[in-house]
Amino acid sequence: TDLYAVVGNPISHSKSPDIQNAFAEQTGEDLFYKTLLAPLDDFEGEVRRFIEHGGSGLNVTVPFKENAYRLANELTTRAKRAEAVNTLKKMPDGTLLADNTDGAGLVRDLMINHSVVLEGKRILILGAGGAVRGVLQPLLEQQPAGIVIANRTESKAQTLAKDFADLGRISACGFTDIEGSFDLIINGTSASLAGEMPPIPVSVIHQNTTTYDMMYGSNTTVFNQWAEDHGALRTIDGLGMLVEQAAEAFYVWRGVRPQTARVMQSLRNERR
Ligand code: ATR
Repeated sequence: TDLYAVVGNPISHSKSPDIQNAFAEQTGEDLFYKTLLAPLDDFEGEVRRFIEHGGSGLNVTVPFKENAYRLANELTTRAKRAEAVNTLKKMPDGTLLADNTDGAGLVRDLMINHSVVLEGKRILILGAGGAVRGVLQPLLEQQPAGIVIANRTESKAQTLAKDFADLGRISACGFTDIEGSFDLIINGTSASLAGEMPPIPVSVIHQNTTTYDMMYGSNTTVFNQWAEDHGALRTIDGLGMLVEQAAEAFYVWRGVRPQTARVMQSLRNERR
C-alpha cells in the first residue's frame, strides 16, 4: 500500500482524504491517504520525514504552497508560473517533482462539468493573490478573448498582468474602474471568507454571464448571491474545483484519471 497525505496547518477539516481514498477505491489503486499537520516553522522537515518514512506523494495546502514551491527539486511549467505547489510526487530517484493542479482543476470543472466555453470569451477575475496566480496559465491556454484582473490593491493586479502578458491578452485595474461586461466572472479573493463583497460595478454582468466563486460553503457564497441578484445566468461554486484539482493530482501520482461526479455528489449531500 502506497502512502499519501495532505499537509497543512490547520489540516483536520480537510476533505482531501475522503476524496482521494474514494478515488483509490474507485480505481482499485492500492494506496492510503491521510492528513499531515506540519508545524508552521518546519514544513520542510515534516515533508522530508514523510518521504523518508516511505511516503509516495503529498498534497500541499494553506499556508505552505509557496514553501513547497521553494523546496521542490523539479517544477512543472504550470507550477513555475503559479509560484506555488499543491502536489509533490516522489520520483524513482528519490527527488521530488512539484506540480500545481489548481488551475487545471478549475478549467476542468468549468469546461467539462459545467460546459462553460472559455475560447473567445471575456473573463474578469477578482483578486490577485496566490489563488489567482495559480490559475492564470491554464485559463489563458484556453484562448479567451481576454482576461481582466481586478484587485483591491491594484498594483498586485498589474504585476500579475505583466507576468502573464506573454501568454495572452491580459490587463489589470482596481475594483471601481472595471469597464464593460463579461461572459465569465471568477472570484479569487478571500473576501467571501469575511462575508464581504468586493465593490465592483453591477454593469459587469450581462444576460449570459456565468460567475464562479473559488470558495464554497453550505450556503450560496456572498459573491454568487450578489451575481444572482443582479441577473447572472448561472453561478457556480468552488466545490468542483476542489474535487478536480484532487483528481488531477491523483493522475500525476498514479497515471490514472478517476471519475469525479460521484465524489462531488457525496460532498454536496454531506453539506445538507
Ligand atoms: P490566496 O492564497 O487565497 O490568494 P492571498 O494571496 O492572501 O490569498 O490573496 C488574497 C486576495 O483576496 C487578494 O487579492 C486580496 O486583496 P489585496 O491584494 O488587496 O490584499 C483579496 N482580499 C482579501 N480580503 C478582501 C476583501 N475584504 N475585499 C476584497 N478583496 C479582498
